[in-house]
Amino acid sequence: MAPSAAFGATALLALVVNVGAVPVASEPTTTLTSYLRCQTPYVIEHHNVTSHGPYDGPPATTTGALSTKILAPSIEPAPPPPQIVEYPADGELHGDQPAPFTPSGGIGTNGSLPIYKVASDFDYQSLALALYQEWIELDLFHWGLATYPEEQFDAFGIDAETRFLIQHMADQEIGHATVISNMLGPQAPKQCTYNYPVSNVPEWVDFNQKLTRWGEAGVYGFLPKLNSGPAAQMLLQSITIEARQQMSFRQMGGQFPMPEWHTPGIPQSWAWTLLAPYISSCPYNQTRLIWQNFPALHILNQPNPARINGSDVFNETTGGYANTLSTEDLNEDDFCVNATDPLLDCPPAISNNRSISLSYPGRQVFLQWDAPGQLVGPNNSYVTTTNVQEPKYALWLSQLNVTYTPLLNVSLEERTAYTFQPNISTWRNNPAVNGTMFMALTDVDLMVTPYNVSLVNPHVAALAVYQAG
Ligand SMILES: *[C@@H]1O[C@H](CO)[C@@H](O)[C@H](O)[C@H]1NC(C)=O
Ligand SMILES: *[C@@H]1O[C@H](CO)[C@@H](O)[C@H](O)[C@H]1NC(C)=O
Ligand SMILES: *[C@@H]1O[C@H](CO)[C@@H](O)[C@H](O)[C@H]1NC(C)=O
Ligand SMILES: *[C@@H]1O[C@H](CO)[C@@H](O)[C@H](O)[C@H]1NC(C)=O
Ligand SMILES: *[C@@H]1O[C@H](CO)[C@@H](O)[C@H](O)[C@H]1NC(C)=O
Ligand SMILES: *[C@@H]1O[C@H](CO)[C@@H](O)[C@H](O)[C@H]1NC(C)=O
Ligand SMILES: *[C@@H]1O[C@H](CO)[C@@H](O)[C@H](O)[C@H]1NC(C)=O
Ligand SMILES: *[C@@H]1O[C@H](CO)[C@@H](O)[C@H](O)[C@H]1NC(C)=O
Ligand SMILES: *[C@@H]1O[C@H](CO)[C@@H](O)[C@H](O)[C@H]1NC(C)=O
Ligand SMILES: *[C@@H]1O[C@H](CO)[C@@H](O)[C@H](O)[C@H]1NC(C)=O
Ligand SMILES: *[C@@H]1O[C@H](CO)[C@@H](O)[C@H](O)[C@H]1NC(C)=O
Ligand SMILES: *[C@@H]1O[C@H](CO)[C@@H](O)[C@H](O)[C@H]1NC(C)=O
Repeated sequence: MAPSAAFGATALLALVVNVGAVPVASEPTTTLTSYLRCQTPYVIEHHNVTSHGPYDGPPATTTGALSTKILAPSIEPAPPPPQIVEYPADGELHGDQPAPFTPSGGIGTNGSLPIYKVASDFDYQSLALALYQEWIELDLFHWGLATYPEEQFDAFGIDAETRFLIQHMADQEIGHATVISNMLGPQAPKQCTYNYPVSNVPEWVDFNQKLTRWGEAGVYGFLPKLNSGPAAQMLLQSITIEARQQMSFRQMGGQFPMPEWHTPGIPQSWAWTLLAPYISSCPYNQTRLIWQNFPALHILNQPNPARINGSDVFNETTGGYANTLSTEDLNEDDFCVNATDPLLDCPPAISNNRSISLSYPGRQVFLQWDAPGQLVGPNNSYVTTTNVQEPKYALWLSQLNVTYTPLLNVSLEERTAYTFQPNISTWRNNPAVNGTMFMALTDVDLMVTPYNVSLVNPHVAALAVYQAG
């Protein structure tokens, strides 16, 4: 990575210098390229995955998450770091300047040469998780384009130019997979085969906007905690593209592009829990991950964005975890894509006003969850686990908020309960519960904030994507 990045920087410099010498009103010229005496960097080896569907190979010889000596069952809460508490945030300068126009402080600011590689187990495991995510996106976007006929895309308003955007988004993943693989080194996880819970264009588009949301939120959860600042920089410059993809897929599904004012971050184990069920098998000797797989949470009345009245549903998903919309029970005039009232329709668009909310405060949400001990993920080689005997709360994670509502009518035999969507605002006029977000069941209502959500993991019983708005 380091040599090719340095090479890239030299080429960029040559380009800038040359552009400076070009007259303001310039003719198209080919001389620019003569300054670029470098080769285009190679991308990581990749292919179009040809096999899809559930894993049907032999039982895995290794099962469960990667682990080593475990020092304690959970992380103990501790006081805040003194340097943040003590810094007087008063607009004055409190240290000598290392250089002109340069304030004291910061991380990675002392001139040391950036090395674009992981620097700890935390870094390695986090980037390896992100790489699994980039690989699935590369396949998922190509696969949908190759699988569904053009007429079906057209029927849902996704025309040839929009399909090219999706093709382009798939190709962007090659770059993302390449930078992450380079920062991980030779044992970086390879491309796998996949099993998608969708059977037509609207289901696929919905799965894409949900999968990219946990890809995005999964990285936000660890990005500011990486030991390697240079690795964080590279990943940041990839995940901003993923954020745009997430919004585009919402727009293609006729949803409001970004109802939330903030995008949440989730713990790595949540991202892995939501991703792993859709990975069917990985190559021999694939590098394994440390993260936990929680049991699936089924949102029984998960709002269905393909419907005119998206909250008027029961059991309309294609399964737990992603809780992707199912079109199986929709008649032609239930679909919002072609609705004649512009306040009810949802064609692919820059934005759509939905006058019937997908969900709303006070909505009764019916839940069912799986027991732990199920085999999931690549080669069915990971096992779902939880410490929780009896879930008591629904945890709603959206924007900057973690909020709990009590579970009612809990049946441990059926593993069912219901709860009510909370009525809280992140800011005035900004309902916290909105957009594509997350729900967990927990046994305690532990107070956590965006930088320490993972402290709740020992209390999580099951996990889902909730489609709020
Ligand atoms: C994968 O398929 C797409 C078409 O869907 C094509 O553009 C791309 O070049 C293929 N990639 C490889 C590595 O063969
Ligand atoms: C710069 O900071 C890094 C830690 O970020 C440290 O390892 C390195 O020794 C520092 N270099 C100098 C010249 O102080
Ligand atoms: C929407 O209407 C168009 C005709 O305008 C039709 O071709 C298409 O099949 C309809 N889509 C759905 C999902 O009913
Ligand atoms: C979600 O946000 C959209 C866009 O601001 C708004 O129209 C909708 O009412 C919000 N939904 C809820 C449940 O607050
Ligand atoms: C997973 O299964 C595939 C297909 O059976 C096999 O080729 C591969 O070696 C297995 N991977 C691992 C890590 O065991
Ligand atoms: C399997 O991976 C390990 C490192 O994780 C490596 O040392 C070993 O050579 C690999 N084996 C094969 C057959 O590729
Ligand atoms: C949409 O469905 C909800 C839930 O069944 C219902 O309460 C509401 O009246 C419906 N809205 C419209 C406009 O049909
Ligand atoms: C939901 O529907 C599936 C079939 O699509 C069925 O197997 C399952 O039992 C249903 N669940 C509930 C709670 O009705
Ligand atoms: C869209 O929704 C917003 C918020 O509910 C509303 O203020 C606005 O008038 C609506 N615009 C149209 C064109 O429906
Ligand atoms: C939500 O809270 C707001 C302000 O506290 C209140 O005006 C509104 O009626 C509440 N909505 C519901 C459904 O309880
Ligand atoms: C979350 O919502 C509550 C309102 O229930 C609010 O008091 C709190 O400040 C919010 N937290 C964040 C981090 O925005
Ligand atoms: C409570 O759960 C039982 C099944 O465990 C069910 O028969 C009953 O209808 C539920 N009550 C409510 C109010 O949903």
